[in-house]
Amino acid sequence: MQGGGDRDSFSSKFGVLAALAGSAIGLGNIWRFPYVVGQNGGGAFLLIYVIFIAAIGIPVMMSEFMIGRSAQLNPVGAFKKIAPGTKWHLAGMLGVVSVFIIFAFYTVVAGWTLEYVIQSVKWILFPDKFGFASMDNVALTQFFSNHYESFTSGTWRPIIWFLVMMFLTGYIVISGVKNGIEKFAKILMPIFLVLLLILVLRSVSLEGGREGLVFLFKPDFNTIKEAPFRIILEALGQAFFSLSIGMGTLITYGSYIKRKENLAGTAVSVVVADTSVAIIAGLAIFPAVFAFGIDPGEGPELVYKTLPVIFQNMAGGLIWAFMFFLLLCFAAITSTISMLEVIVAYFSEQLNMSRKRATMLSMISVGVLGIICTASDEVFGLFNASPDLMLPLGGFFIVVFIGWFFSGEKSRQELSSDGAFKIRYHRLFMFLVKFVAPLAIAFLFALGVYSKVISIFPSLG
Ligand code: PHE
Repeated sequence: MQGGGDRDSFSSKFGVLAALAGSAIGLGNIWRFPYVVGQNGGGAFLLIYVIFIAAIGIPVMMSEFMIGRSAQLNPVGAFKKIAPGTKWHLAGMLGVVSVFIIFAFYTVVAGWTLEYVIQSVKWILFPDKFGFASMDNVALTQFFSNHYESFTSGTWRPIIWFLVMMFLTGYIVISGVKNGIEKFAKILMPIFLVLLLILVLRSVSLEGGREGLVFLFKPDFNTIKEAPFRIILEALGQAFFSLSIGMGTLITYGSYIKRKENLAGTAVSVVVADTSVAIIAGLAIFPAVFAFGIDPGEGPELVYKTLPVIFQNMAGGLIWAFMFFLLLCFAAITSTISMLEVIVAYFSEQLNMSRKRATMLSMISVGVLGIICTASDEVFGLFNASPDLMLPLGGFFIVVFIGWFFSGEKSRQELSSDGAFKIRYHRLFMFLVKFVAPLAIAFLFALGVYSKVISIFPSLG
């Protein structure tokens, strides 16, 4: 299917937005964003994050779309086609490698949501067995914290849930039910949003919740003084991760976008949707965190420990937990699909495999990585930290490519869809991709890596 006319594409404008928002919105917003904000001091981090989203995230996302749509190929093939005989395809390769790593740990965390779906059924059916009625919020927090610990440190359940998630993802990608998933996304994502908003209402009305809002929205730069460059790089990494950029996912999805779609408008809609959901998740979590006396810097368990306690504080109790984790699992699948799609497109287009074989091979290789993640906290930690380095690096090459190697004429053509749309923003865009984004990324990357290394080997400082 090398760039042929029979290439699959998204059926409608809504289909494009559903698939892209599905990729962007997921565990990155609900699980990773709140705990990373919590670990890095709250409001100041959020402010830096939002600046990165607007000034770097949007241009990188548009650049990925432009590369994918103009080449009609996977990330490696796309660079080979647009810049033949150069080393640019290595930038695509870097993306594919990042996908392997991120897909593996992401699917492990996606598996956790299934554990919570099943457990909440038990919790709902046998509340007496667990003694929920007599627990106050402190005891409840302890209970869910213990549950998280015993589950994640166990051997089999994390592996089984991980494999279930892998197979679900593989099944959907093999059968190519893009339509099916789009249809699901149309119904389930709005329900998820409503549920999240109900959660926000409950959380902000908890006694002592106000402090959480102050933490989230009042920038206090003293909180990032300790390791400013590491923290700023983490904000950049989280921005890339949450937008699904910097590893070619959106080059791949971009290759399925029809020429009549407006790339800039699409990017802005996706970015606004993704960032709103992350902030809404923060609004649900932080008031409760402060009301229950949980440490916001808790780490990856933050959400899994806080949310169930909020649910217990609501009429209906853990029935909410069941619905919420089920929908979160769905939100995660629309993201894992977009990752698997990168590898499958790469294997099938560059290595001439059938879609089915490509999917199986990807699942086996990522399966091994994922199982290692469930077995070792160190590997999990390393993989989970990798987006902060890999994605800005990938994004750097992508904007430099568009800014310096993709001709201005071609860039106008792509962004205006051959003249169909006005692109008054074009000069601003070129300025961002030529100078602002590459320089900012390079600078933050160098300093961030330095400060990370120093934090590991203080004697070098
Ligand atoms: N953006 C997704 C999320 O926030 C994760 C993701 C990253 C998906 C990179 C695809 C590529 O959950």
